Amino acid sequence: MAKEPLRVLVTGAAGQIGYALVPMVARGAMLGPDQPVILHMLDIAPAAEALNGVKMELIDAAFPLLKGVVATTDVVEACTGVNVAVMVGGFPRKEGMERKDVMSKNVSIYKSQASALEKHAAPNCKVLVVANPANTNALILKEFAPSIPQKNITCLTRLDHNRALGQVSERLKVQVADVKNVIIWGNHSSTQYPDVNHASVKTSSGAKPVRELVANDEWLKGEFITTVQQRGAAIIKARKFSSALSAASSACDHIRDWVLGTPEGSWVSMGVYSDGSYNVPAGLVYSFPVTCKNGEWSIVQGLSIDEFSRKKLDATAQELSDEKSLAYSCLQ
Ligand code: NAD
Ligand code: LMR
Repeated sequence: MAKEPLRVLVTGAAGQIGYALVPMVARGAMLGPDQPVILHMLDIAPAAEALNGVKMELIDAAFPLLKGVVATTDVVEACTGVNVAVMVGGFPRKEGMERKDVMSKNVSIYKSQASALEKHAAPNCKVLVVANPANTNALILKEFAPSIPQKNITCLTRLDHNRALGQVSERLKVQVADVKNVIIWGNHSSTQYPDVNHASVKTSSGAKPVRELVANDEWLKGEFITTVQQRGAAIIKARKFSSALSAASSACDHIRDWVLGTPEGSWVSMGVYSDGSYNVPAGLVYSFPVTCKNGEWSIVQGLSIDEFSRKKLDATAQELSDEKSLAYSCLQ
């Protein structure tokens, strides 16, 4: 029997990530090839005409899974009945801007959209915040939508996770699909810690640790980490716009694995509400390794953390605590 359509909200849908993301959702890349969807697209009034153009293109593309399109500048209409909310709306970082510069513009949006989601989304709606500062926007959304279960509010660090897989695959000249279990710890910012201590590569003679195959500690502790940390800035420098197709694709990966589950024996990175695991202070939205089953994520427990990693986990937690204070000062 055909499945009932699920409603997927994309805020900022007239922007660059939105333009890359909505066709992916309509093709089944987010919720699966047999899951019909109704797209809800929200943007602000100055972008209304462009948003309508995106709606026209979605109709013209005749996606079989797409059962309806709501294109609106009304946040209540946009949030009503949605099962998945991908929060992309906001102002992107431009060349030369620090992420803190976008903070004051964006956190107030997340405060006001929190209450619309809380009141009007479907029960158990899963929320993914993409707009920067992604972890702190997600935290603000959680705090101003107290009736949404905290496990349902997450932020995107899957792009960083995928970037780390990509760097290992390029270095070792192996298929990216054969690399697994990298971890992004902490903030979606340049303090994030891309960790390969538990990562492996599938080879003809079984899985081999990335550390053993790379055999160059200097690269793993230096250039690998900074390349992943700085990749967003490198894309902005090259394109003059921030990453869009990779962000959209990673947002689909994030929701797909959350809803449909992670493969046996592998984990992914998600920004989730910290419960104190790995001595990360509770009350931050922090990226951890997670596995997903039956629509729920769980933090992978028991991984060894060496002294080098400990310092990195703590530094990115400290930045998130500082961002949290700054966000609250912007909201006053
Ligand atoms: P963009 O400027 O092209 O699009 C943003 C859209 O949001 C615009 O159409 C704008 O009109 C709209 N918007 C602004 N305020 C809004 C509001 N209150 N409600 C609804 N829509 C609103 O930017 P983009 O390149 O698509 O990037 C979007 C966000 O994603 C930025 O904050 C960017 O920094 C962030 N980003 C995050 C990641 C990640 O991995 N977490 C990766 C790339 C970009
Ligand atoms: C990215 O990681 O590509 C974006 O978050 C861009 C940015 O603002 O760093």
